[in-house]
Amino acid sequence: MNLYTSHQNKIIGSIDQAVTNLAQIHPLDNSYYAQCLEIFEANSDQRLGLLGWLEANIVANMSQDANAILSVGCGTGAFDECILEYARARMKRVTYLGIEPNEISAAEFSQTMDKQASAQVDVSVLLQKFGEQVFENEFDLILFIHSIYYLEDRNDAIDAALKALKPGGELIIVIAPDEELNTVANLMWQRQMEQNSWFSDDVRAHFDARGLVYSETRVSANLNAKECFGESTEAGRNIVDFIVQTRADQLPTGLRNDISDFLMSITQGQGAATCLPHPVDIFRCKKP
Ligand SMILES: C[S@@+](CC[C@H](N)C(=O)[O-])C[C@H]1O[C@@H](n2cnc3c(N)ncnc32)[C@H](O)[C@@H]1O
Repeated sequence: MNLYTSHQNKIIGSIDQAVTNLAQIHPLDNSYYAQCLEIFEANSDQRLGLLGWLEANIVANMSQDANAILSVGCGTGAFDECILEYARARMKRVTYLGIEPNEISAAEFSQTMDKQASAQVDVSVLLQKFGEQVFENEFDLILFIHSIYYLEDRNDAIDAALKALKPGGELIIVIAPDEELNTVANLMWQRQMEQNSWFSDDVRAHFDARGLVYSETRVSANLNAKECFGESTEAGRNIVDFIVQTRADQLPTGLRNDISDFLMSITQGQGAATCLPHPVDIFRCKKP
């Protein structure tokens, strides 16, 4: 199925070509990445949609006794602090571990999450990449919230996560489909990471190849994009830099213009209501 008009396909082709011709695409540095992520999330309703779904469908169905939760690529904890709040409101004991290689985000995770630490709640973070640890039958819930893209071997990561779950535990992978806003990110990431990036189709293919039973749910979401076009503001630049995962002002002008044209072409609404759709998929797999 082709999602795009011939004009949009032409722009995508042109972005692809320009990205292929770049000598290098520098990733955002750790501190700037953490800043862009939070500005991006503050302008999107996606996190709220995801949290609502996870509370109602996952946390509410977990045992009310003791649970161990692992968040892989936990970032600053802005997402996990809400999951932890839902969990401690209904469980006698919660052990919450984050894994995060960005030292700025990991420090913020500790600060944010430690506010909820008590005799009932144990919180810790490992300043590491996922895969540098060995876990076996330890967790009731493992979350990959928009982090699987960044891992070097995603197939190994899913296998390791399933091994790390207790029998009956659940693996949740939140990942973008290769559509709308994510299409540009995909083109940039492929070049930046020197391997294909992963999107929903790849998670589906992995579960199918392993013969695992899973379910998936699409959550639609919108990014408030009124600051991304025209006169640039710092927030607008942060959002665009997060979309392209590099400093957009360091890209060649033609490529920048193509990215802007493509984003404009998928924009909905006008003025203060200008938004960019960025749907997300939730994959859920229970360890037998
Ligand atoms: C888009 S952010 C998501 C953060 C958080 N889960 C959230 O939803 O707000 C992706 C996170 O994955 C982390 N990450 C990158 N490579 C990783 C790796 N190899 N192992 C674990 N996490 C990684 C990044 O540092 C970043 O904080």
